[in-house]
Amino acid sequence: MHIPDLKKARIRSDKKVLEKQIEYNYPASFLNKKYFLRTYGCQMNMHDSEEIRKYLELLGFQETTVLEESDLVVLNTCAIRENAHDKVFGYLGRCKHLKITKPDLIIALGGCMAQEQNVVKEIQEKHPYVDIVFGTHNISDLPKMLLEKKKSQEIEVYSIEGDIYEGIRYSRDSKICAWVNIMYGCDKFCTYCIVPYTRGKQRSRKLENIVNEVLELKKNGYKEVTLLGQNVNAYGKDLEENYNFKDLLEQVSKTGIERIRFVTSHPWDFTEEMIDCIRTHENIMPYIHLPLQSGSDRILKLMGRRYTKQEYLNLFKLIKEKIPNVSITTDIIVGFPNETEEDFLDTLDVVNTCQFDSAFTFIYSPREGTPASQIKDNVTMEEKESRLQRLNALVNDYSLKKNQLLVNKIVPVLILGENEKDKNKVYGYTDTMKLININGGKEFIGSIVPVKVLDAKSFSLDGEIVSEES
Ligand code: 5AD
Ligand code: SF4
Repeated sequence: MHIPDLKKARIRSDKKVLEKQIEYNYPASFLNKKYFLRTYGCQMNMHDSEEIRKYLELLGFQETTVLEESDLVVLNTCAIRENAHDKVFGYLGRCKHLKITKPDLIIALGGCMAQEQNVVKEIQEKHPYVDIVFGTHNISDLPKMLLEKKKSQEIEVYSIEGDIYEGIRYSRDSKICAWVNIMYGCDKFCTYCIVPYTRGKQRSRKLENIVNEVLELKKNGYKEVTLLGQNVNAYGKDLEENYNFKDLLEQVSKTGIERIRFVTSHPWDFTEEMIDCIRTHENIMPYIHLPLQSGSDRILKLMGRRYTKQEYLNLFKLIKEKIPNVSITTDIIVGFPNETEEDFLDTLDVVNTCQFDSAFTFIYSPREGTPASQIKDNVTMEEKESRLQRLNALVNDYSLKKNQLLVNKIVPVLILGENEKDKNKVYGYTDTMKLININGGKEFIGSIVPVKVLDAKSFSLDGEIVSEES
């Protein structure tokens, strides 16, 4: 995918962000100015926003959650489906309106949409009030762009992935759980997916840098890390060093951090030794997000997923046998071009066999520049919507049943904070990544405590803290 106003691709190297910090020295030129940051999409984007937030704070900005109060709006965008686009353009309309009454308002757009040529063009042609566009490969250029903004609209996006930066500082959302990037980009090129174009080729961080980041987090009191990558099981395959995801998990486990999670797994790269590693390390949580996408061999092939229905089922069975208390969630797309009722029934068949703890379900959305967008789509929107409804009904049924199995059981819960709707309650997550609401318990925020499950719904549990002895 070609992007206008390209900077040349740079050679991979592990650059220190510190060099940039010295170069710009982050003068607090925006003291008393307010920024409003809105994040769309996945955990990767949320983590990128933690980096953006740090730069803005270093420049003197203060965060506001009220758009109208802001002097700077940053939209960190997502491109995975068309409705993500629509939401951003809808929100830009609001920002444009605000700029009429507040002409000095700076509007910046970053994230995956900024990596799409057609979007950048559209912004240049139809949205001149957007001041700054920056991509996923050069987030650390945002301070420079804010400090040196000369033109009315400044676009800095690299079409090809840039350096791996080490020493990035984040203003993290939580003091208890932290995201840790282990790799950037993806080499799988599933035919429907825009990620390899917006995030670039797979680039793994060096193992020692990741371990050091986790050690630092542990020292600062963090209880949980989630290792982030588009396909964590392929970690290390792009490096000269001879280590893989299992080796990384082992080393992160040795740091002694209390809880380790990881997303997202790809069935094709998942090995038995990785399963054994998860099973044998107590601080690696028994929770795996294992996208299925489709249960039909024909559609899986068209999607370029590299596994068959049976291979997925075999892997699923192996994980369940080896880690009996594991919870497994998935992603499923319905209405891929040429998907027949028979193909869809294959997907339902896998759902019935696997009985996922939960599933994220989507209607296929053609993304410009991907191979699948070239396939003639002969499934009507009515049919797609009907399949989504049927799938959701089944998936939610199993979620509820799975949760009900936990009633009266005692499970370990990391308490994260007050329940937003009911301040007399706290919420947290079980080892198997189930959201649980608990009466009282504020004194346990940041601790892992045993909780008795009292009630189960499709998307959450209710429970009470029990003493260790009971
Ligand atoms: N249309 C619909 N869903 C998609 N996903 C990725 N690309 C598309 C698309 N073009 C879904 C996949 C992936 C999840 C993050 O988003 O299920 O696992
Ligand atoms: Fe997209 Fe496939 Fe890579 Fe996941 S594995 S990010 S679906 S290309």
